[in-house]
Amino acid sequence: MDIPWRDVDINNRKRDSESSIASRTEVDESTRQSNDHRHWDQQTWHEKCAAYERFLNAPIVDVENIRYLTKQEHCALSARIDVANMTLYRTPDMTIDHQAVLTLGEQFGLRNVEHNICADDDGVSDVTVKNGDRHGRYIPYTSRQLSWHTDGYYNADDRAIKSFILHCSEQGIHGGENELLDHEILFGLLQHDNNIDHQSLFAHDAFAIPANMDGGEELRERYVGPVFNTVDNRLHMRFSARSRNIEWNTRPAILTAVEAIRYYLNHSPLTLKIRLEPGMGIITRNVLHRRSAFVDSHDQRRLVFRARYRDDIYDQQLSGFRDALAK
Ligand SMILES: [Fe+2]
Repeated sequence: MDIPWRDVDINNRKRDSESSIASRTEVDESTRQSNDHRHWDQQTWHEKCAAYERFLNAPIVDVENIRYLTKQEHCALSARIDVANMTLYRTPDMTIDHQAVLTLGEQFGLRNVEHNICADDDGVSDVTVKNGDRHGRYIPYTSRQLSWHTDGYYNADDRAIKSFILHCSEQGIHGGENELLDHEILFGLLQHDNNIDHQSLFAHDAFAIPANMDGGEELRERYVGPVFNTVDNRLHMRFSARSRNIEWNTRPAILTAVEAIRYYLNHSPLTLKIRLEPGMGIITRNVLHRRSAFVDSHDQRRLVFRARYRDDIYDQQLSGFRDALAK
């Protein structure tokens, strides 16, 4: 089978290469120097791609009971997370509730649940259509499409979302398809694109998100930060394809790199598309994802439990890819 990312049209991607190359000189030199180590060599990149292809061919692990994973199930899930920063699971158990999702997370070292304003007291959110209250302000709680993003891209650094779990309790009658892309794969594509300076995305002021105001109340303060950074040698990404609530730094190098991100997200054969059925879920290190619009009926309403964490998922496997980021 051909490796699908060989079809990604890196060199012919339409862009203004002249201006992008010229703009490299505008990147803050200290930023460049501090990030020079974040390169994958060709062998590591090809290993990553080959492993990712294996994941795309078999992304789902069948699990009997998410509250008590067997060693074999845990290994199968961990192996996928190790190579793709995400895994899907499927259980026949239709009694899954918030506590079951939290118990699943604990088996991967996830304990610090992010208590966002739309979550229940236990930190788990019922992502479903909610009209007429605070939730209705936010697109996840409507039936509209959600564009590409990572969760919590607007959070302060000490509340960064490193992982999340989605569990589908009920699906609508149409739509609601999820699409996901490992941000490490995107990073590799950007790194191998000679017409952009991917290091510009490490700038500490790459973008800003205005404060979240509700009437006169500030629910969240303004955030300014990088698209990419590394925490404990692991690559972390903040991104939103929405243009309304994000202020991109106007340095040409950054704008050109962001244009490249949009291109790869919209033209990549590397994404994983899945319409979650009841009993299916996703465990991920907050990879890029989006959701298509959906339609509910009177007695069949899409309901997804979501738990976001400030913890990283346990590193159960030896990973050459994470270590390569530190070289
Ligand atoms: Fe999300």
